[in-house]
Amino acid sequence: MEVMEAPFAQEFVRMAYEGWKQGWHECNGGNLSYRLRSEEIAQVAECLTPGEWREVGEGAKAPGVAGELFMVTAAGSFFSNMERVPERCAGIIEVDASGTRFRQCWGFAEGGRPTSELPSHLLNHESKKAATDGSSRVVYHAHPANLIALTFVLPLEGKAFTRELWKAISECALVFPQGVGVLEWMNPGSVELGRASAELIREHDAVVWAHHGLICSGDTFDAAFGLLHTIEKASEVLVKVRSMQPTMESFITDDNIRTMSEAYGLGIKL
Ligand code: 13P
Ligand code: ZN
Repeated sequence: MEVMEAPFAQEFVRMAYEGWKQGWHECNGGNLSYRLRSEEIAQVAECLTPGEWREVGEGAKAPGVAGELFMVTAAGSFFSNMERVPERCAGIIEVDASGTRFRQCWGFAEGGRPTSELPSHLLNHESKKAATDGSSRVVYHAHPANLIALTFVLPLEGKAFTRELWKAISECALVFPQGVGVLEWMNPGSVELGRASAELIREHDAVVWAHHGLICSGDTFDAAFGLLHTIEKASEVLVKVRSMQPTMESFITDDNIRTMSEAYGLGIKL
């Protein structure tokens, strides 16, 4: 079948467009990648025309995803155009046997190439694939405004940042009981940012990039999108509360979190 007839490709485009509608993808901000299942590769095999092998990034090595195929957004592409011209805004790549090179197999029309954050995506996929026994398939990076705002006022430290988010909405501890990782500002698109994120995403499904955005993972498009949505919703609540007054009259306490952890088997230790 044509690539855009395949359910995985349709879900990819739908999620990217939903992210645009949420306001998380100004200009070409954000990027998305999906690791294909073998049956999905078979569905679109006749449309794949591999090009030249190219380096993932200087020193970038992800042997844990060697030989895998990914659908990824194109560098510089606007998520707002994703539904209209998916073959220009995204494409499919194959990673080589060493995990250091890739080749374009479909899409990236009009001379495009994969996102500048490809090192982050592949290194994060490698981490999560190993940590989840292969169930994790989606890596998503976006620029949600409220979360970015919080990175100017909260400590850039995972535990403290997580605790603030958990304070805001009950749903947070349920959706991300493992908390979020936090990185200080790093150069966008750098292999260093990819490596640092991959280290943190092993334990947390979401990593905050200070003054930039968030990268998160999930087994499904819904899981990754929902995680980012929950974190951004909590961030919005915190921004509103802090805008009204500097202190909280009440909030979700450590005891409240322990109660939820017990009731829902979240395994949170405070
Ligand atoms: P790309 O257009 O290369 O995906 O970059 C957008 C971005 O958000 C970089 O962090
Ligand atoms: Zn970005």
